[in-house]
Amino acid sequence: MEKYQYYSIQNVGEEVTLKGWVSKVRNLGGLVFIDLRNRTGIMQVVVRPENKDYELANSLRNEYVIEVQGKIVERESKNPKLATGDIEVESSNLVLINTSKEIPFQITDDTTALEDTRLKYRYLDLRREVLRDKFVTRNKITFATRKFLNDLDFLEVETPILCKSTPEGARDYLVPSRVNKGKFYALPQSPQIFKQLLMVSGFERYFQIAKCFRDEDLRADRQPEFTQIDVEMSFVDENQVMELGEQLVARIFKEVKGIDVSLPLMRMKYDEAMDRFGSDKPDLRFGMEIHDITKCFAHTDFTVFQNVIQDGGIINAIVVKGEAPNYSRKDLDKLTDFVKTYKASGLAYLKYMDEVSGSIFKVLHEDEVEDVRKTLNVEKDDLVLIVSGKEKVVKTSLGALRCKLARDLNLIQEGDYKLLWVVDFPSFEWSDEENRYMACHHPFTMPKDEDVDKLLTDKAHCYSKAYDIVINGYEAGGGSIRIHDQDVQTKMFEALELTPEEIDSKFGFFVEALKYGCPPHGGFALGLDRLTMLLTGTENIRDVIAFPKTASATDLMCDCPSNVDEHQLDEVGLKLK
Ligand code: AMO
Repeated sequence: MEKYQYYSIQNVGEEVTLKGWVSKVRNLGGLVFIDLRNRTGIMQVVVRPENKDYELANSLRNEYVIEVQGKIVERESKNPKLATGDIEVESSNLVLINTSKEIPFQITDDTTALEDTRLKYRYLDLRREVLRDKFVTRNKITFATRKFLNDLDFLEVETPILCKSTPEGARDYLVPSRVNKGKFYALPQSPQIFKQLLMVSGFERYFQIAKCFRDEDLRADRQPEFTQIDVEMSFVDENQVMELGEQLVARIFKEVKGIDVSLPLMRMKYDEAMDRFGSDKPDLRFGMEIHDITKCFAHTDFTVFQNVIQDGGIINAIVVKGEAPNYSRKDLDKLTDFVKTYKASGLAYLKYMDEVSGSIFKVLHEDEVEDVRKTLNVEKDDLVLIVSGKEKVVKTSLGALRCKLARDLNLIQEGDYKLLWVVDFPSFEWSDEENRYMACHHPFTMPKDEDVDKLLTDKAHCYSKAYDIVINGYEAGGGSIRIHDQDVQTKMFEALELTPEEIDSKFGFFVEALKYGCPPHGGFALGLDRLTMLLTGTENIRDVIAFPKTASATDLMCDCPSNVDEHQLDEVGLKLK
């Protein structure tokens, strides 16, 4: 096979055969220049008027597939923007391998084509260098992962795609069974149960680069099918799992980006992350932390704050340094609309300029304004943004606002990475819809030793041996130590108000397995797509998935989901409503 990489000035004089796509052809003063593209980049080919293939060269169009034989020569006018810009290939033989229809959009990095068009012709979109490079990075990540884990004796094991519903908390994708009419498989939301069963089997160290399927509302970092680097280990505690997890991530950063991640990673308790950053995935690349200023208003006459305090709520603020003069009433109205999307009732502000002003300035006492200044260490020209209400709403809305402002104000340095573990998640979270406590993670997550006894009596204060790895405000992965003790598992099911029938029908086989000498075990899963996003600097998960779905879970290229004919439905015993 011909060498498959960029050529450079060192290769001048070499005879080469190149195959690829015509990226551009132009005739300049009689010379035909062809930009020939393959996976490694662009090489300029020159065909002179006296060349036997001159006519053919002149007839080439974009995206034709050609083969060129020729000699590498130094260019007269070099192109510093191109990796091969110092050289070109002087064609001695040109062969047209295939023609191409006119393409629906130009194959350039800065294309203006609509994303829908690009997704419809995804195979053309993937010809663009910016996109293709993301898959080179993705490959580096999976390769580094396999090498790292294989060297540590982890076994790569595949688990089923057609399986029984797995309890990760999203909706399942269902697959009707033809052979067992009226029954359904579910696509796995993760290999969670299987990897735990492999621990019962004594595999001890498992990993898999696993496809997962979740029917949930999509966001910029969520796809209905995505990939996890899934890991499970036996005879370990949470420190050992987190150590392995962070070493793997550090190895990936080193191999893919040459970045040294300093280990051990910082660990922050969930409660602290929520308190200071209003998020269980805090972005630590900038400050603007959330501060409690409730006590400044202990004796306030301002009825809104009075009511909030009476109802057990809180008053919190963030300080936007030096920005008071730059935010107009209109800008602040927009920020108010923004926090309202997080259910905040409103956004109050104080501008500490030469004089203090702001939406609530007139209703506050002077000493309250001064107390806020002191509590928050406010300096001249700082803008103080305040939300009051129920703790969860206040924290999450200010947490989201902090991230928005950091973007708006360009506070994030490009290429900066801040990694941490968020640990000690609550075992349960209250669901207003269901009017009961639900599992924060899956129901096999081990509670903290000191909280096992509280499972049935004090759910609000039960914490678990669960951890998430957070990178630049993204949840890049998560895991936990699992329950291997049957009594604790029974208690957990009871805490989740599952009836014996429900337990039996949902996870009977799994509970049974725990009875056969189940080792203590735990693990984690990294979101491969999210890691790739972070390491390729994109905020759109579709950029790192070769054939992604749209935000409404459709595949525009294959045109699916699509109708199926009566006969197919009949075979699986289904009738459309
Ligand atoms: P979890 O549900 O936290 O844990 O998923 C692990 C990681 O997978 C990624 N992820 C997603 N990526 C893209 N699109 C999605 N829809 C999506 N959902 C999740 C995230 C997340 O951190 N079985 C457990 C792991 C364990 O306990 O070992 C699990 O699946 O990066």
